[in-house]
Amino acid sequence: MTALAVVLIRLINVWRCYKVGAETVEALRDVSLEIAKGEYVAIMGPSGSGKSTLMNVIGCLDTPTSGIYELDGVNVTEMDDDQLAEVRNRRIGFVFQTFNLLPRATALRNVELPLIYAGVPAGARRERARRALEQVGLSHRARHLPNEMSGGERQRVAIARALVNNPSILLADEPTGNLDSKTGSEIMALFDRLAEQGNTIIVVTHEEDVAKHARRIIRLRDGRIAADERRPVAGSGTVGSAARSAAG
Ligand SMILES: Nc1ncnc2c1ncn2[C@@H]1O[C@H](COP(=O)(O)OP(=O)(O)OP(=O)(O)O)[C@@H](O)[C@H]1O
Ligand SMILES: [Mg+2]
Repeated sequence: MTALAVVLIRLINVWRCYKVGAETVEALRDVSLEIAKGEYVAIMGPSGSGKSTLMNVIGCLDTPTSGIYELDGVNVTEMDDDQLAEVRNRRIGFVFQTFNLLPRATALRNVELPLIYAGVPAGARRERARRALEQVGLSHRARHLPNEMSGGERQRVAIARALVNNPSILLADEPTGNLDSKTGSEIMALFDRLAEQGNTIIVVTHEEDVAKHARRIIRLRDGRIAADERRPVAGSGTVGSAARSAAG
C-alpha cells in the first residue's frame, strides 16, 4: 500500500516565523512531512505548538517563511494570492472550531456559499448543497437558520459546506471543541464515514479520544514534529505494513 500511495501534501523544511516587535516567533521550525491521498491524520500538541499554523499553511491560508509546500505535485510556495485563493476554493474544505456560519442564511444557503464563489449556476448549486446536507444527515434542517439548530447540527452544516466542492482535503481545527461529548462523537462518526469513502482528512484536536479515530497521529512540540505514529486499520491485519510505513 505504501508503495502505491499518492503523496498529496509534501512539506519540505518548512519554517513559519512571525515578527512581533523586536522578537521573532518560530511557529513552525523545519517541518518536513508527507501526507498521502486518503489518509486520516490527527494533529496534536500543546497550546502554542504550531497546530493551527500548520493547518493554515496546508490549507493555503498562509505561506511558509521558508521551505517548500507541494500540493498534489504543484509548488504552492510560488503561487500568488489569486492562485492561492483558487486552490483554497477548489481543493480545500475547512471546518473551524467556531463553525463560521452566516447567521442570517439558512443551512442550505450556508452550504451553497463556496459554490457561489466558484461561479456554479444556481440550479446545480442548490442540488449539490442539498446532497451535501444529506451526506451529513441534515436534509430536514435545510431551511433552518443557524440559531434554529443545535451546536452539533451547526457543526454538521459547516462540514457540509466544507464538502460541497468535493475538496481534495478536509481540514478541521478542533471540530468538536465546542460540542458536548455525545455530539462530538456523532461528528467523529461522520468523519470516520468520510475517511472510509476515501477523503483525505486532517483534524487538529486536544483530545486523545478524538485522535484515536485517525490512522496517524502527528504530535507537534515547539513548532517541530515530536512524533508521527501510524496505526493499523482495526481488524485488517496490516500491522506489518503500518510498521514499515512508519519506519520508512
Ligand atoms: N499572527 C501571529 N503573530 C505572531 N505570533 C503568532 C501568530 N499566530 C500564531 N503565533 C504564535 O505562533 C505559535 C503557534 O501558534 P498556533 O496558533 O499555531 O498554536 P496552536 O498549536 O494552534 O495552539 P492552540 O492549541 O492554543 O490553538 C504560538 O506561540 C503563537 O503565539
Ligand atoms: Mg490552534
